[in-house]
Amino acid sequence: MSEQTKQYKRILVTSALPYANGPIHIGHMAGVYIPSDIYVRYQRLRHRDVIHVCGSDEHGVAITMRARKEGITPQDVIDKYHALNKKAFEDFGISFDIYSRTSSDIHTQTSQEIFKKLYNDGKFVEKTTEQYYDEEAHQFLADRYITGTCPHCGNTGAYGDQCEKCGTSLDPTDLIDPKSTISGSKPVLKKTTHWYMPLDQYQQFLEKWILQDHKNWKVNVYGQCKSWLDQGLQPRAVSRDLDWGIPVPVEGAEGKVLYVWFDAPIGYISFTRQLTPDWEKYWKDPDTKLVHFIGKDNIVFHCIVFPSILKAEGTYILPDNVPANEFLNLENDKISTSRNWAVWLHEYNEDFPGKQDVLRYVLTANAPETKDNDFTWKDFQQRNNSELVAVLGNFVNRTLLLTEKYFGNVVPQPSALTDYDKETLAKIAQIKADTEQSIELYRFREALNNAMGLGRLGNKYITDMEPWKVWKTDPERVKAILYVNLQITAAISTVLEPFIPHSTAKLRGFMNIADTLEWDTVGNVELVKPGHQLNKSALLFEPITDEVVQAQVDKLNRTKIENQRENFKPEDQKPIVTFDDFNKCDIRTATILAAEKVAKTNKLLKLTVDTGIDQRTIVSGIAEHYKPEEIVGRKILMIVNLEPRKIKGIESRGMILCATDAAGALHFLNPDAEIENGCQIG
Ligand code: 2FM
Ligand code: ZN
Repeated sequence: MSEQTKQYKRILVTSALPYANGPIHIGHMAGVYIPSDIYVRYQRLRHRDVIHVCGSDEHGVAITMRARKEGITPQDVIDKYHALNKKAFEDFGISFDIYSRTSSDIHTQTSQEIFKKLYNDGKFVEKTTEQYYDEEAHQFLADRYITGTCPHCGNTGAYGDQCEKCGTSLDPTDLIDPKSTISGSKPVLKKTTHWYMPLDQYQQFLEKWILQDHKNWKVNVYGQCKSWLDQGLQPRAVSRDLDWGIPVPVEGAEGKVLYVWFDAPIGYISFTRQLTPDWEKYWKDPDTKLVHFIGKDNIVFHCIVFPSILKAEGTYILPDNVPANEFLNLENDKISTSRNWAVWLHEYNEDFPGKQDVLRYVLTANAPETKDNDFTWKDFQQRNNSELVAVLGNFVNRTLLLTEKYFGNVVPQPSALTDYDKETLAKIAQIKADTEQSIELYRFREALNNAMGLGRLGNKYITDMEPWKVWKTDPERVKAILYVNLQITAAISTVLEPFIPHSTAKLRGFMNIADTLEWDTVGNVELVKPGHQLNKSALLFEPITDEVVQAQVDKLNRTKIENQRENFKPEDQKPIVTFDDFNKCDIRTATILAAEKVAKTNKLLKLTVDTGIDQRTIVSGIAEHYKPEEIVGRKILMIVNLEPRKIKGIESRGMILCATDAAGALHFLNPDAEIENGCQIG
């Protein structure tokens, strides 16, 4: 039965457990945590029994590799990033009911119990195979400890478990020319025994459960599952030869740990167990709706591998839906932790205190729900200034200020309502219903757009009614106008709560409303009664200035330059030239006497230079690097006997010597002392 028809008693929402190997960034927020938080806040508003479970994923090679890179222990890594991310989520206002960690005892216990049950029930297949081993590091090379060339696309940096370029899931032995990422050495094959989840045995079950019974899943999720199933599922190892992880709890498995993708999703269960003694109700009663919010790279694990494990275990429910998002890019480039190309949540919290809702709003309005999307700081500023400030804030603030000015901040009693007033009020119920429906279908962009309909409705109404003009001739009519505005404002304070909860709380403060209004009453009854005393209001949203946005863009530009410097590889040496060849070039010291832009070009400057021999004109492609006024008087080196050339109708006689740095910027070369023009270089 699909979720649209089945009536559930409770909802269990999980958000993908982020690896505690780096900070959370806007890609994570847009993909997983903001949508799940909207969904959960909405369900709470409707008084549904809902819990939201998350925490740090602290096992696997992702952690140990970071430890190696930072020169600290894996324990240090997880302590550092768990604390950082937990605080960043809290400061940002993501409303988890629990944010735990997979290094906790309860998680070890839960994962080992599930492994043992599957083991004892004969659900695993034990296989001895040859796997790569690093003889220098004395270690088997699981997953990301090995790189090589992808057999599918030729990417030379493919990992042992996946090629990130073409997305193919790999086995280390698929890699061409494999190399250990620990020592750089060529690994050897060595026998090892592991336990495998025979996914092939679940193929039929999954085909029915997903392809037939869950046609309502998002197209991207359904499509990825179908493609996996069409290829035919293969057994997958659920243990690894590593020294970081949960020990495999069976005899003869010394030195082996559970594969991180076996234990991580079980974290959802462990954390529920930690949260409530009633945890089994959430995990074992078919009247629970289980929803996994994830990013697209986690689809196979949540739709195929974890459900097979739960099915094999036999007593757990399976997810009703797995709303996975696509990826968010940043300023037209892939977000990357290793390249520091991201907007980090903890830094956003510091740079934009009190502005959590702006990011929530922008990342929802532009969420990568059906395709990858791009975040730009310009768009962030524009959506804040022209949507939050100019539509929503403008309407709310005008309403509240006029109520203060005309009626001493008391909700007026209208003597009569016009048809237009009544039609306007009637639209609240429809907007609320549309918002509900979109959220239930996990379409959060659409839901936000629907909910913002209240702001647009109010703005249009107040602009049409012009109460500031009517006041002069008909104050009685203004009572009705502001009454209508205040009903819309009150509806905003609840219907927009899931999306921008900090601002709606602020708004309820202005309106002297203690808590969110009853969802069911919105659109049905008078939300604020005549005579109700409001509080003093302030601006709900503030414009974001060009300077603030530029500071963020500058920060990214600095990162880009740092990355280019780090990755700088000098060009190969050119072929050998003879001394005589070199001697043919007449290179001299010279001084720039005048500089101006060449009309209708972006790159060219026309320079007058004193070569010591003469004064002459040269045209140089440096306009993007130097402003004319900056370079007058600069000492340069130039080739003076280069064949003259006409560029844009100007004869250029010579060429300035410049070095191009790793970031592509040009630099003049000059002598290390103040020497005369015309000195020869050689
Ligand atoms: O991709 C990731 O960041 C994983 N740490 C997600 C794990 S989700 C769940 F299964 F724990
Ligand atoms: Zn590839």
